[in-house]
Amino acid sequence: MDNYRYLMDFDTDKIRKEYYDVIIIGSGIAGVYTALELPDKYKVVILTKETIDISNSVLAQGGIAVSLDKEDSPELHFKDTLYAGAGLCDENSVWVLVNEAAQNIESLCKFGVNFDKKKNRDELSLTREGAHSKNRIIHAGDTTGKEVCDKLISIVETRNNVKIKERTFAIDILTDKDVCKGVLTYDEDSSEYILYVSNVVINAAGGFGQLYSNTTNPEVATGDGVGLAYRAGAELMDMEFVQFHPTVLFHPENKSFLISEAVRGEGALLRNVRGERFMPQYHELNELAPRDIVSRAIFSEMKKTDSDYVYLDITFKDKNYLEERFPNIYKTCLTYGIDMSKDYIPVAPAEHYCMGGVKADVFGRTNISGFFACGEVACSGIHGANRLASNSLLEGLVFGHKISDEVNRVLGDRGAYDETFHLKYSMNRANKEIDKKQLKMNIQNIMTKYVGIIRDKEGMLKAKGIVDECYNSINEMVNISIEDFEIQNMVLLAKLVIEAAIEREESRGAHYRTDFQNTDDINWKRNIIKKKNLGNNK
Ligand code: SIN
Repeated sequence: MDNYRYLMDFDTDKIRKEYYDVIIIGSGIAGVYTALELPDKYKVVILTKETIDISNSVLAQGGIAVSLDKEDSPELHFKDTLYAGAGLCDENSVWVLVNEAAQNIESLCKFGVNFDKKKNRDELSLTREGAHSKNRIIHAGDTTGKEVCDKLISIVETRNNVKIKERTFAIDILTDKDVCKGVLTYDEDSSEYILYVSNVVINAAGGFGQLYSNTTNPEVATGDGVGLAYRAGAELMDMEFVQFHPTVLFHPENKSFLISEAVRGEGALLRNVRGERFMPQYHELNELAPRDIVSRAIFSEMKKTDSDYVYLDITFKDKNYLEERFPNIYKTCLTYGIDMSKDYIPVAPAEHYCMGGVKADVFGRTNISGFFACGEVACSGIHGANRLASNSLLEGLVFGHKISDEVNRVLGDRGAYDETFHLKYSMNRANKEIDKKQLKMNIQNIMTKYVGIIRDKEGMLKAKGIVDECYNSINEMVNISIEDFEIQNMVLLAKLVIEAAIEREESRGAHYRTDFQNTDDINWKRNIIKKKNLGNNK
């Protein structure tokens, strides 16, 4: 059955309500920066599933792409983004991204974010990452996301107009005929359902990396923001494009720690387990080819050598340099007995980023009035079929700023919420018992095996059969806990990713099919959109 509009039964008259001008779901860079950019005349709440400092953005290592060098330009950044995106980027959105990058980085510097500077100079230090034709990645050591998020969070915490609600799970947005009315939530601390009422909801809830067994994403990345958008009738786009980061630590005790692309940017080489360098056989940009190409090359070398990993070699740089440039990576590797100044680092690709998500224009607007999307949860077309390295934090900044402008334009002097809105929803589900832990593991295994780096119809149909069965059985569940809501979102998104991946009968960017190995511009230079048929459930 595909006709459940909401995950749970409720009656808005019986739920405690709080009223805001603007609700933001998610506390990564997109959510917090947008909150800071909104004028302080608005009463804003940030809802976050865990504590405010837990997000994918915080874990970002490499940096933020911005054309600051005199040899560089937004035009070159535009060209590189399009090249990595394999023909599917929205050029209009990419122009906005690259042209408005510098002004938002300037804002970050004004907020006090400490990016690394060139030696003895006041200019920001610029490094290179995959598929960039110039050095344009600004960074803060190898913990750029943490530096940016820590600074932004410390400021937002001082804002009187912004309330932060931690351990608050956004279950569903409430809508009335394609107009957003608020967010139904579960408050873990008080074990209470609370309805946050507002005509403006900004979805910055992140991606769905937890659909895969090995991911660089935190546990919270179960796709709740994409799931609630789909149930409300928002259009989703490019769901089949899931990016695998080529170099994630492969150690029995840790298969999710990122070894930043910046390490390759500083010259690291990839070697198979026989010690042979292989990237020159795969692409003219060698180790700095676009991510999808490097990930597939590693996958193929792993198969060829019957191994679960390859090596990253930066042993030609001395210890002092590595400790200073990559303090976190150096220290973390050492805890696993790997001294990167002497030892090769075992690495394998792991899920890293979802290009697809809630279809949004450059002002973050979706097809639901008052409902905006920003950051990884959104699909504004800037990544196409494969995201260019270090464009993701930038996306949160540029489009967060544009959303704040748009909200200001729409709301004017006063925010708006509908105090009279009332809704009672009931679906009478049978209370079926489900082993959710086992189900989550099954989904992760199936997605990794059949809908990962290399795909084909046979495998994906197998995955579809299993996931469809899971989908039918969870439709019979009564959802009351966070675990229930999460598994609903994960199964739904697995189903949507598989369906889009089966539909796209070609290979492009991160979507590679052994049964359709070529890119087919004639039939497939277009986006796949998924939208729930709401019928009478509007
Ligand atoms: C990295 O540091 O390699 C990740 C950067 C990104 O995902 O853009």
